[in-house]
Amino acid sequence: MKSTGKNPTGKRPTGMLPRRPREKAPRTVVIHDELEVDIDSLSNSGDGVARTDGRVLFVPRTAPGDRVRVRVVAARKQWMKARLLEVSRPGPDRIEAPCPVVDECGGCDWQHLEYAAQLRTKHEQLIETLQRIGGLEAPEVQPVIACEPPWHYRNRVQGELHEGRLHFHRRITGEPVLIERCLIADERLNAALAEPLALDQRERGELSDQAQRVELALQGDQVVLQAADEGATEIGFRQVNDAMGERLNALVVQAVTDSEADQVIDLYCGAGAWTVRIALDHPDKRVLGIELHPGSVLSARQAAKRAGASNLEFRSGRVEKHIASMDLSHSVCIVDPPRAGLDPDVVRRLRERPAASLVYVSCHPASLARDLKTLGGRYTVQRIQPLDMFPQTRHLEVCVTLAMR
Ligand SMILES: C[S@@+](CC[C@H](N)C(=O)[O-])C[C@H]1O[C@@H](n2cnc3c(N)ncnc32)[C@H](O)[C@@H]1O
Repeated sequence: MKSTGKNPTGKRPTGMLPRRPREKAPRTVVIHDELEVDIDSLSNSGDGVARTDGRVLFVPRTAPGDRVRVRVVAARKQWMKARLLEVSRPGPDRIEAPCPVVDECGGCDWQHLEYAAQLRTKHEQLIETLQRIGGLEAPEVQPVIACEPPWHYRNRVQGELHEGRLHFHRRITGEPVLIERCLIADERLNAALAEPLALDQRERGELSDQAQRVELALQGDQVVLQAADEGATEIGFRQVNDAMGERLNALVVQAVTDSEADQVIDLYCGAGAWTVRIALDHPDKRVLGIELHPGSVLSARQAAKRAGASNLEFRSGRVEKHIASMDLSHSVCIVDPPRAGLDPDVVRRLRERPAASLVYVSCHPASLARDLKTLGGRYTVQRIQPLDMFPQTRHLEVCVTLAMR
């Protein structure tokens, strides 16, 4: 009789050894316990990782090779989290974090790591993510473009207003904490952080003194106070790091120049930073920008008018709706979605009717990897270029160029 591989009786076939219940490793550590552990790596969320008690233990603000004394603050079946009490033996990449309030402020994950080690870790983590989530076998990832110097790069800082002072958020608890100088903020912002902000009646009304998310931002040489929007300013999206933003712009513009497509579609184009520049550099190409945020679209149209670019059009609305009816086959498509990555409808469209080439810019390697996996069959990855847009933190920006197969 042909075996179906199933046992129709539902009973264990005779002659087989009885299945032994799987032995569970005993779990002895409980919350509040104090432990001494060795950190062996860094997780994608920036924490040091140790293995103990049959579980993974995450310890913020530690480095590989550190031997540390910690207190357990959360204990689940598979993992635990602990607070650093003392570094008994520092690992080779550990340095003294230069910021005096690094333990209070929740902004920087990796100030205690040599900058070269930050870059190396980001590179390794990107490769691992592209393999594990993206299914890429041996991704060839360029070295991370460093931000030099890796300090005072932020053109805006966000927090809450209390009695006319901007407060950041305390690590873990999220409570407001007064920071008078931030080592990753532009020094012109620090000058404003150092003393109470001169707010007039109207500003006090609009940005009332109660807890509310606001940001201090550089506009040219001026420091302005405005309501904070995730990733966006009042005039639309803006990278937080101008110098590295320029490096990224150059990569995107170069990818368009390298492509022979006669149409450029900048999906998620923000305030048109790339779109306008591409239209000016390529007067022979038709350039189209699509963006959801109406303020960004307005800014983009104004920028195009000021620059005198006439081969350029902006459409307002959702990318998923606009590209449903577009022919992408003669286009180079640029996609720079929010952290969540591409909408499934956008991925489907880019798979079913591929663009001649695709430039995918991402600030979240995990969603990038997921989308590359789905797009994989229709495109060949040509170049994977990470950039350190956010030194001293675990975050990474990546620009991937792909060509239709
Ligand atoms: C990371 S920003 C990209 C900005 C632009 N590439 C730049 O560098 O200036 C993402 C942009 O996507 C926009 N956005 C988010 N969801 C969208 C959607 N479904 N359709 C169109 N735009 C969207 C946001 O408003 C934001 O401007």
